[in-house]
Amino acid sequence: MIHALETPRLLLRPLELADAEQVQRIFPEWEIVRFLAATVPWPFPSDGVLTYYRDRALPAMERGDEWHWSLRLRTDPATVVGCVSLLKGKDHNRGFWIGLPWQRQGLMNEAADAVTDYWFDVLGFPVMRVPKAVENTGSRRISEKQGMRVVAVEERAYVGGRFLTEIRKITADEWRAHQTEKTREAICERGGFIR
Ligand SMILES: CC(C)(COP(=O)(O)OP(=O)(O)OC[C@H]1O[C@@H](n2cnc3c(N)ncnc32)[C@H](O)[C@@H]1OP(=O)(O)O)[C@@H](O)C(=O)NCCC(=O)NCCS
Repeated sequence: MIHALETPRLLLRPLELADAEQVQRIFPEWEIVRFLAATVPWPFPSDGVLTYYRDRALPAMERGDEWHWSLRLRTDPATVVGCVSLLKGKDHNRGFWIGLPWQRQGLMNEAADAVTDYWFDVLGFPVMRVPKAVENTGSRRISEKQGMRVVAVEERAYVGGRFLTEIRKITADEWRAHQTEKTREAICERGGFIR
């Protein structure tokens, strides 16, 4: 069971096999795969998305080991613009990518917050860990802004080669405190009063 989610600008829909065709058109770009795990094949096969969804992602969702959502703009819900995933496991609990035309608009900040809430509040996990290639500034920035702290640094294999990688972590309590602080700051910025 996986829920659809919403953010101010995005709809997050549980992944379906029917999404593969659209995703195949926007995903295989060097700027997108460069900092993804080396398990992503490159050059990317013409049926790469379909086989990954059919043989790996959807069965893992069925088993309750992974949760994948397609991202769509509220203004254009028929078009898939990216994906975000949650994964059980030791230190890679969240992954995301967004198509080139939709990058640098703050959209993944929104999606990452929504699925992090889901990880803690709906799925009930006590801690989230994510690996980030140090050079992947945008991705690292999202975790930094969420209050995730670096707990280890090691080298890992990506599609684009071996890169120094930070393992970042946040607990459920730290996440909730961080969200409360963000709400408080937003109210103060709007000139509201908070005790
Ligand atoms: C990483 C990625 C998902 C970021 O998505 P996005 O929607 O463009 O990110 P946002 O617009 O929400 O930006 C998040 C922050 O990172 C910054 N940022 C985004 N891309 C950046 C870049 N290429 N260089 C420097 N900073 C960047 C933004 O300025 C923003 O910081 P701010 O909130 O302080 O202004 C996107 O670049 C992507 O799909 N990359 C390829 C896949 C990938 O590497 N996934 C992560 C694997 S761990």
